[in-house]
Amino acid sequence: MILSENNVFLLKNDNISYMFRVTEHGNLEHLHFGLPIQLGDVDALSVKYGTGWGSNSGPEGEEFPMYYPLEWSCLGTGDYRESPTEFAGEDPAGFKFSYAKTYEAIVPIKCSLPQARGKAETLEIVLAYVGGLTLHLFYTLFDTAITRRAVLVNNTDQPVTVTKLMSYMLDIQGDYEMTTFNGSWIAEMRSYRAKVGLSGIVNESTTGFSSALHNPGFILNEPGATEECGEVLGFNLIYSGNHYARVQKTNEGLTRITQGISPVDFEWVLKPTERFETPEGVLVYSNKGFGGMSENMHRFINEHIVPVTWQGKDRPILYNDWEGCMFNFNEAKLLSLAKKAKKLGCELFVLDDGWFGERDSDKAGLGDYDVNKKKLPNGLSGLQKKLENIGLSFGLWFEPEAVNPDSKLYRAHPEWALHANSGVTVLGRNELLLDLSKAEVRDYIVDNVSKCIDEGHVSYVKWDMNRHSTALGATAHKCVMGLYDVLNRIFTDRPEVLLESCSSGGNRFDLGMLCFSPQIWSSDDTDAVERFHIQYNLSYLYPLSTMGAHVSAAPHSQTLRDTPLTTRGNISFFGLLGYEFDLDELTPVETDEIMNQIEFYKEHRHTFQFGNFRRLKATEGISMQVSDGRETIVGLFHELVYAAPGYEKIYPVGLIQDKRYNVERSKQLQNASKFGGLLKVVLPVKVHPDGLVVRTAGKRYRMQDSVQTCSASGAALMSGLSLNARFMGTGYDPQMRMQGDFISNIYLLTEES
Ligand code: GLA
Repeated sequence: MILSENNVFLLKNDNISYMFRVTEHGNLEHLHFGLPIQLGDVDALSVKYGTGWGSNSGPEGEEFPMYYPLEWSCLGTGDYRESPTEFAGEDPAGFKFSYAKTYEAIVPIKCSLPQARGKAETLEIVLAYVGGLTLHLFYTLFDTAITRRAVLVNNTDQPVTVTKLMSYMLDIQGDYEMTTFNGSWIAEMRSYRAKVGLSGIVNESTTGFSSALHNPGFILNEPGATEECGEVLGFNLIYSGNHYARVQKTNEGLTRITQGISPVDFEWVLKPTERFETPEGVLVYSNKGFGGMSENMHRFINEHIVPVTWQGKDRPILYNDWEGCMFNFNEAKLLSLAKKAKKLGCELFVLDDGWFGERDSDKAGLGDYDVNKKKLPNGLSGLQKKLENIGLSFGLWFEPEAVNPDSKLYRAHPEWALHANSGVTVLGRNELLLDLSKAEVRDYIVDNVSKCIDEGHVSYVKWDMNRHSTALGATAHKCVMGLYDVLNRIFTDRPEVLLESCSSGGNRFDLGMLCFSPQIWSSDDTDAVERFHIQYNLSYLYPLSTMGAHVSAAPHSQTLRDTPLTTRGNISFFGLLGYEFDLDELTPVETDEIMNQIEFYKEHRHTFQFGNFRRLKATEGISMQVSDGRETIVGLFHELVYAAPGYEKIYPVGLIQDKRYNVERSKQLQNASKFGGLLKVVLPVKVHPDGLVVRTAGKRYRMQDSVQTCSASGAALMSGLSLNARFMGTGYDPQMRMQGDFISNIYLLTEES
């Protein structure tokens, strides 16, 4: 509900509340973002200014300078903290409260920017700026989040040049640490935590897109917060372009947070009567630690961000031909793979790059949509019909925003490509980007992609984008708006087509794309152990239902790591399971194991994809769980093994204390050759550990680990389930867990009936 009394505004539900008031001088004083409070709490919550600090300044006649918690601010008012608004050549002056309006729904953004959807209430605060500009601050209350955005309207008779306009600003009290997620191609989402100090921390992308360099989402936590306890706030932006956030503490103990479109090189001329809409910011609060914050963020994304058709809907298990074939395939090879994928239990066959134009490498063909008849003589529809007969639906890769200079499209329309302001041609993966601010470029993409989807009865699209942009400021923003327009036009009328966004992996893992594509390819780093960390860090801000995570070949092509197939599967379970390597190379024992993996995943798919997720503490390794209340699945992942390990426990959470649960640990399978010289000790016959017998046996037989089962109360399990001992080389016990590097286990806890 949205309450207001005596110029105090309170947005509140059972989970959260947000409160501010209009001061007698028309400023917005921030009072609270956190637990549900009451209108009558103003006095308890407002800062007490006293006689103030020396050398502060403020507008004439106001009883104290601008050093109190604010909802919005402006340069030149005496507030020397980060300003959310800047205009070129304007005399500085403040925004003052004009009026407020409430709505029992979302207020739609009046441009192609995506926004959160579903049941919500909105408060609009209108601020007036000297001379006739108005700033509209929208606060929308959802179950587990507040969204905020700002709209500037030019009611003057002169154009105004906006050089900076953030989506939101707020000042909260206290000490915080800030976690940001940074990286690069195949190294996405590396987390960095730092104390927010007086110099502030900036999290910004200028690559034209949200980028793997700096994900727009970030976290603030009170020092000492854990997964289960303490105040943790999550922030994100529903935007896929250049973004900016700054968090800075002041000497007075206030922390200012601003987030919005990056102001670098930004100049937007707002003509009389025009409005400028900023992307929506998302604010989440929990006093139940990082886990509580993630739970709120996950719920918000699953229920209010992803397209309605895909909310809570199980995602198919897919096979993608890219890592197995790259550009080198024909219809016969694809069908051979498809038959094997079907036998394994896959549901969707995705044809990745290389199906069109002269696309035999990444040097040519991008921008063209004519099917390569040498590879696919029966076209897309011919392939689709054959896949349908096999029992698989058909998915197709596109990279519509880019063009190779060596393509029919570029030769016909060189003026459609974006070029750097410097005049230098900047290529990325042999590509240029198309200028999506141009209507004719957008029409070309919409027409061609739609035609391919319809002709090929395509039920899944992988929408890729493989380079950074050289565009900054307004040009970059217009291209992102152009992209949203294109996505709207193609997919609004085809809601049943599952869209997976990709940008060289996770180079555009953001809430803007998630409004169109319910899932995103997490990373081109398909080494399971590396990607585990990417998925783990994504989980702070994004639900498992959004993370494309495939099992790939071992030894892995990027790291040369030989991760057991069991672990590769277990890691992909905590995401959206898929397979991506040459299935024609599978051994019989691998085929069996994958069939078992898919069977297990299908049985628990809804819990994995949409269950309540938690990162857990563990004695050793990294642990996490998903739960639908009835079944809880705990994953325990180890990296390098070490000698003489101690006793170990896992600590599931959220169980009912006096309920009883059946516990079952899945098998960890190992290739016998791992046991090296030990084979000579345990086997009755003498074998060479790397000889023909062991290698041939390895294709048909796996060493099975023990299976731990027990029955226990929720209270006992939450106190720590004691795990079977690990193999230590001191002897053999059939109950122990076989070790080795990169092993993992899945524990299934099912409520006893
Ligand atoms: C990008 C994607 C990959 C694959 C290739 C195809 O790198 O991230 O998954 O689709 O392009 O060229």
